[in-house]
Amino acid sequence: MSFTLAEAKATDAADPLRSYRERFHLPEGVIYLDGNSLGALPRATVARQQEIVAREWGESLIRGWNVHGWIGLPQRVGARIAPLIGARPHEVIVADSTSVNLFKLLVAAVRLSDRPVLLSESGNFHTDLHIASGVADLTGLRLDIAPRAKVEGRIGSDTNLVLLTHVHYKTAERFDMAAVTARTHKAGARIVWDLSHSVGAVPLDLNGAGVELAVGCGYKYLNGGPGAPAFLYIAEALQEQLLSPLRGWMGHAEPFAFTDDYRPAPGIDRFLAGTPPILGIAALESGLDAFDGLTIERLWSKSRALFDVFYALMEQRCPELTCITPRGEEQRGSHISFAHPHAFEICQALIADGVIGDFRAPDVVRFGLTPLYLGFEDIWHAVDRLARILKEDGWRDPKFAVRSKVT
Ligand SMILES: Cc1ncc(COP(=O)(O)O)c(C=O)c1O
Repeated sequence: MSFTLAEAKATDAADPLRSYRERFHLPEGVIYLDGNSLGALPRATVARQQEIVAREWGESLIRGWNVHGWIGLPQRVGARIAPLIGARPHEVIVADSTSVNLFKLLVAAVRLSDRPVLLSESGNFHTDLHIASGVADLTGLRLDIAPRAKVEGRIGSDTNLVLLTHVHYKTAERFDMAAVTARTHKAGARIVWDLSHSVGAVPLDLNGAGVELAVGCGYKYLNGGPGAPAFLYIAEALQEQLLSPLRGWMGHAEPFAFTDDYRPAPGIDRFLAGTPPILGIAALESGLDAFDGLTIERLWSKSRALFDVFYALMEQRCPELTCITPRGEEQRGSHISFAHPHAFEICQALIADGVIGDFRAPDVVRFGLTPLYLGFEDIWHAVDRLARILKEDGWRDPKFAVRSKVT
């Protein structure tokens, strides 16, 4: 498939989602292909943060918890995430980081069964595996880490809990959520899904797929800002059976009774631990506002079109890079990844040329296709610049081999 710059411009001009780009601040001269790692800044966030800091905090001080409803923000913003993942409003709450939410859910869930194995995938995002190993140590379970192709086959009568990431952070491979959940439940086990690379990008139907437990990230496709709070999901039927291992006062039935005993709050609220980070949750709410008027299906349809163009242009102009993302739309998420022995240097050279993607060790360069604010012309120029860097060996400059702390 050939796709010219003129065609890219024409496709953008006819794109019904084009105006959503205006909701974001996109720095001049930058093509941002890393929204799967840190979403771009919604313009509304700037005004809202100004308001919440200067007016709500500044003027209302501690009265803001009641006057501005800060105390209800974890539930309110959770309810905003619910339709994006096919959940009911009271099944989602915003709290902590993805890692901490994983810890809470894994400990709570494994305690419902006396089976001995916690199962996950090798090459899963490392925080998931680290948290799982801590949970296994704490609860006396055996952690079984199986290669992707073998995970499903390993679910059996000794499996207590499975932990999987729906869309893989590196390759963008996607599990069949409904099928794997059904298989797990059939074996009498439970499953926790990490939705960090799916939420806000890929259509999700947690209720429809029978999913009981999930966590997800606020700073990627949801555009909540650096270190934005994460969320967790617990299906209604399970909520009263689970107890959080982090018994903080915000998860108490009556935090302001100041009693010595712990009584869990009803429903999902018991999975709050400490005081909610109001500025961060408000920024996440602004990020969610950027989705107003859209369905995930419409976004996903544009993501697929962006993927097809990116894939075709790369195949044609940058064949040195090997695509490691499956092409089938049911088998992948909303980023596209390529392997190359010098992926790090190539990625740095590209960033220096105004195209921001990211590198994942040891040899992968990833590009996030965020349909809310990316256009086809962006994709065309990104591949054009990459082709030039490869042709001219621009990445071989030693300055592109210098590694910072965050890659
Ligand atoms: C699959 C997955 N889980 C979790 C995280 C991060 O978790 P946390 O919000 O605790 O940093 C990431 C970050 O990239 C991720 O890709």
